[in-house]
Amino acid sequence: MSNDLYLAALQAMAKSHSPYSRFPVGAAIRSGTGTIYAGCNIENASFPEGWCAETSAIAHMIMGGDTAITEIAVVAKRKPLITPCGGCRQRIAEFADPRTVVHLCGTNGIEQSVSLGDLLPKAFGQEAL
Ligand code: THU
Repeated sequence: MSNDLYLAALQAMAKSHSPYSRFPVGAAIRSGTGTIYAGCNIENASFPEGWCAETSAIAHMIMGGDTAITEIAVVAKRKPLITPCGGCRQRIAEFADPRTVVHLCGTNGIEQSVSLGDLLPKAFGQEAL
């Protein structure tokens, strides 16, 4: 059912600019309107200036006029499976809720699906402001 999301993440991973880490990552979001937005990690010669695939996908979603993440897939050709970094968990949380499903993918597709609440319990959110 979410294979389209996995394929979009895989296609995005192929565009990764990661010459420094050699760690290509792809991410794809299904928005509240059903549109898929994808992104890759984009590194920089000034290492801290690079950013993650999930962040690129969120930027595409916002520029596409959508504001809700209903599910998100992340893929890297790695074992063990990668999970979104801490900063990206926070960025995803801005547009999702604790039940939002995060698909962890390898080269064979979705291998594990977890909730954002499991990845980021007791999250800081706008209700705290
Ligand atoms: N990376 C992502 O794109 N997403 C993650 O969830 C974890 C890490 C990228 C950042 C950097 O370009 C490379 O993977 C190695 O850390």
